[in-house]
Amino acid sequence: DKGNHRHFMEKEIYEQPEVISHALAHYVDLGAHTVRTAVSDAIDFASLRGLTISACGTAYLAGLIGKYWFERYARLPVEIDVASEFRYREIPLSTDQAALFISQSGETADTLASLRYCHDAGLKTGAVVNVRESTIARESDAVFPILAGPEIGVASTKAFTCQLTVLASLAIAAGKARGLIHADEERQLVRQLTEMPRLMSGVLNSIEPQIEALSRELSKYKDVLYLGRGTSYPLALEGALKLKEISYIHAEGYAAGELKHGPIALIDENMPVIVIAPHDRFFEKTVSNMQEVAARGGKIIFITDERGAAASKLPTMATITLPNVAEIIAPMVFSLPIQLLAYHTAVFMGTDVDQPRNLAKSVTVE
Ligand code: M6R
Repeated sequence: DKGNHRHFMEKEIYEQPEVISHALAHYVDLGAHTVRTAVSDAIDFASLRGLTISACGTAYLAGLIGKYWFERYARLPVEIDVASEFRYREIPLSTDQAALFISQSGETADTLASLRYCHDAGLKTGAVVNVRESTIARESDAVFPILAGPEIGVASTKAFTCQLTVLASLAIAAGKARGLIHADEERQLVRQLTEMPRLMSGVLNSIEPQIEALSRELSKYKDVLYLGRGTSYPLALEGALKLKEISYIHAEGYAAGELKHGPIALIDENMPVIVIAPHDRFFEKTVSNMQEVAARGGKIIFITDERGAAASKLPTMATITLPNVAEIIAPMVFSLPIQLLAYHTAVFMGTDVDQPRNLAKSVTVE
């Protein structure tokens, strides 16, 4: 049932504050602002030398953001690859590593094969899944449900932000277990996570008219480039994936710093550049990349926060301004304009948003 929404995708975008609340209640103690011990004890993070993550598509991009968190908050080296490569690379693994598999459906063939590969190598395995009765969940040592509820739209939205919520909680648990996050910092990070549903509702209630108008414009183009740095880099990849899969507009995501290593050659007035840049420690650098785009006549769609909007004077085709939010929740909050932009552009193009051509919700063959 789509409720009063035109598509499941739209409904699922709007469900995010609620399902993230559910996920949070499972992973953190909302009163004490700590990560639940059942979560932190499921994997012995203190004794690990490394973590390996394998997944496909959007789930892989959630894992890529997770890598930044595990490395930053827990000083835990993360090896991550798309499952279709991971399973055949003959990666040397050792039992002082644990392996995480991220999958909404829990049935993706390549992810399952990667899990079996790690299991056979004797690694402790953990499944970050939406479907708890799935094969990947059944065959893993530990299961971390994302609690997003059924996701019908082929384009993953709420599963992505719930995967991120779970990975953020696990990274905090890992940092705590490894003696790097102390009680005060844990409480602060968990409090920031718990602010997410309210902040996301606020964003959803305010940005849609602007995004709809902008999507009408965007639907006229054939190519779009997404740029970001730090955790906004995987988000740039996710933005491009979302746009191409439902609107069929060609889109690419790049790390902003890679611009001058190739893609800058494409910049002209026919390829809008979507820059994802909260006012974090990378902001100035991303703005200088934006400058390079502007100097070549590129059209910029700037997705930033209030501080970022105030700090940049560059002319843009549009600036989408979100509230200032804590660094750990920025990827989830910034997912909203990215999802809505892809959604409304596809609606203008008249595509089958929930059932895009050539795609299946669950890819059970390799
Ligand atoms: O069920 P899974 O999370 O394992 O699926 C992985 C990908 O097939 C999936 O995320 C795909 O990329 C989505 N269509 C993206 O929106």
